[in-house]
Amino acid sequence: VIDIRKLYAQTGMFTYDPGFLSTAACQSSITYIDGDKGELLYRGYPIEQVATQCDFLETCYLILNGELPNEQQKEDFVSLVTNHTMVNEQMQFFLRGFRRDAHPMAVMTGLVGALSAFYHDSIDINNARHREISAIRLIAKMPTLVAMAYKYSIGQLYMYPKNSLSYTGNFMHMMFATPCEEYVPNDVLVRAMDRIFILHADHEQNASTSTVRLCGSSGTNPFAAIAAGVACLWGPAHGGANEACLNMLEEIQAMGGVAKIGEFVTKVKDKNSGVKLMGFGHRVYKNYDPRATLMQETCREVLGYLGVKNDPLLELAMALEKVALEDEYFVSRKLYPNVDFYSGIVQRAIGIPVSLFTAIFALARTVGWIAQLNEMIADPEYKIGRPRQLFTGAIRREVKPMAMR
Ligand code: ACO
Repeated sequence: VIDIRKLYAQTGMFTYDPGFLSTAACQSSITYIDGDKGELLYRGYPIEQVATQCDFLETCYLILNGELPNEQQKEDFVSLVTNHTMVNEQMQFFLRGFRRDAHPMAVMTGLVGALSAFYHDSIDINNARHREISAIRLIAKMPTLVAMAYKYSIGQLYMYPKNSLSYTGNFMHMMFATPCEEYVPNDVLVRAMDRIFILHADHEQNASTSTVRLCGSSGTNPFAAIAAGVACLWGPAHGGANEACLNMLEEIQAMGGVAKIGEFVTKVKDKNSGVKLMGFGHRVYKNYDPRATLMQETCREVLGYLGVKNDPLLELAMALEKVALEDEYFVSRKLYPNVDFYSGIVQRAIGIPVSLFTAIFALARTVGWIAQLNEMIADPEYKIGRPRQLFTGAIRREVKPMAMR
């Protein structure tokens, strides 16, 4: 590792690294990825253990504080988060300004940013207490906002949070209950959704997290910085891949299903087609994404529980994965399924509409964004993020009078 800051101070030299392929923009002690081994650790704990032995709020505590909570700490944390699940009633009126067919991520970008207009006692990013309260508020209110966006899109009244339920059980209540009918949380489905949240909670310096850090480095408020993360996550190369992946599977299914995989893969390999295998490939993983393995297991559990013997989309996804993993194009480029390859199938089975997948990712990633933002601000050496450029335009020329141009 070369400390370019020292080199810059001594020589004025800087690196040119578009896409940050080989540039670390920060130091972090939160999440570790070994891309060659396909290993992911939250604060040192393997994702396989966290996903099967902890719930989402324990995972949030771990990511924020560095250690797993004991029983008392967990109880206090759950109670704190639960106290903040409501959003200001005025948020409803803001929500009503959107078209009903707006994409949920467009709505979420607005709603999350709008929180800074309501919580003036937690918008000073340089104040540790403000950072603490805004963290709790964001984790607590994201499920409420996602469910409100969903209910608005289908023309239903939004459901207030039910604080007697678990974090994830309450989210499903706000999604699926109506004023006429109660939603009784189902353990298997709640557990599956909770696991989706855990698997998406943090992933070191991905595009949206780097966006949050860069945005927050100007000293803007935490809600604004997280809204920037939501906006970045929306893109199909990042969090939008779960929606794009399910749409891709449905497109292949409409073409003729498993029999058409070869034709689709040929199109993907043709660089002129502009078609990618969504849910495949990763900047850091050059091996199987461990989250994809866990997601595939969750997929089987959920479909098994729902009594779906042969889900055509799961069959198709597995056949597509098999073809890709045996194809020289994918093998030579070390392209494997990522977390998004199977997450859409699980969410669809739970009853989540495809357009909401990325908003659910944003809900889950909020804790990672906040932890990374707070880690940066608490570092006495942090500076405003300000990349350099390799200038390729004209250096200097004189403006000619109009008649001479
Ligand atoms: N389908 C087909 N070819 C691919 C794919 C894919 N999904 N991913 C990468 N490649 C090819 C590239 O075309 C490139 O080929 P080349 O060497 O012949 O030019 C090579 O593999 C290397 O890929 P890059 O684009 O350079 O890799 P990069 O690290 O920049 O991109 C990314 C990673 C954006 C995730 C990419 O793999 C991709 O677009 N995947 C599909 C979208 C997706 O699933 N995103 C979710 C990522 S996980 C997450 O954000 C939660």
